[in-house]
Amino acid sequence: MDDARAGEAVEGEGLDGAALAPRTVGILGAGRVGAVLARLCRDAGIPVTTASSADDPAAACAADVVILAIPLGRYRTLPRTLLEGRLVVDAMNYWWELDGARPDLDDPSTSTSETVATFLRGARLVKAFNHASVWELANLAHPPGHPDRRGIAVAGDDARDRAAVAALVDALGFDPVDAGPLAAGVMVEPATEAFGSGATADELRAMLDRFPRSQRGRVVARARGRAG
Ligand SMILES: NC(=O)c1ccc[n+]([C@@H]2O[C@H](COP(=O)([O-])OP(=O)(O)OC[C@H]3O[C@@H](n4cnc5c(N)ncnc54)[C@H](OP(=O)(O)O)[C@@H]3O)[C@@H](O)[C@H]2O)c1
Repeated sequence: MDDARAGEAVEGEGLDGAALAPRTVGILGAGRVGAVLARLCRDAGIPVTTASSADDPAAACAADVVILAIPLGRYRTLPRTLLEGRLVVDAMNYWWELDGARPDLDDPSTSTSETVATFLRGARLVKAFNHASVWELANLAHPPGHPDRRGIAVAGDDARDRAAVAALVDALGFDPVDAGPLAAGVMVEPATEAFGSGATADELRAMLDRFPRSQRGRVVARARGRAG
């Protein structure tokens, strides 16, 4: 991703994806995030299958969309073959308290979702839900048009896949904000303004626009400049 694109929220493109909305959801990870997302799916009337590390992941991976809600440090335990060709939502973050010191997951020259996508080659990866806290997900879901609705960034390389995930975000009670390609997910990782901000969609768009001028944005730009 070039650095100009990193701060550009691509608006409108493909966000009217109601027709693409996933009808079933699978969730890998039955911890805090997995449990609250499963509850939001049930509240929205969307059939959901959750798998913890002890479960056979096959049923969850057969859903229209599969949400990854496991500690990022364990991404190599994901069932790569079952996820091949599938629409997969990365809700994970590098969190050193949970994951330990992992320089490979803390490299500003690549977003963690790109690292996961490289491992899950063949999966259609979209980043979403990661920057919202469990509390926000559990307590701030609202119907469309509600003044307190919060924004959730959606980043992925395929516009149709972003639209499908945006429709899911909407169905679960949040306003989707199209953040552009998967690499742009770096703008909503930990240590960014957007992360844990509880922002509305308009506020979130402004944060994405400001990202290149932020401290983290400059670190990312320098690292990508070196890598490029
Ligand atoms: N906590 C938050 O506020 C928040 C918000 C947004 C995003 N996130 C991100 O969401 C992810 C999950 O966070 P969390 O707070 O929900 O963690 P958590 O409560 O520790 O739950 C993680 C769950 O993932 C399971 N798991 C591990 N490997 C698995 C695998 N290969 N297949 C299926 N399940 C597996 C674990 O099961 P076992 O215990 O059996 O290993 C555990 O139940 C993290 O990447 C985190 O950064 C967290």
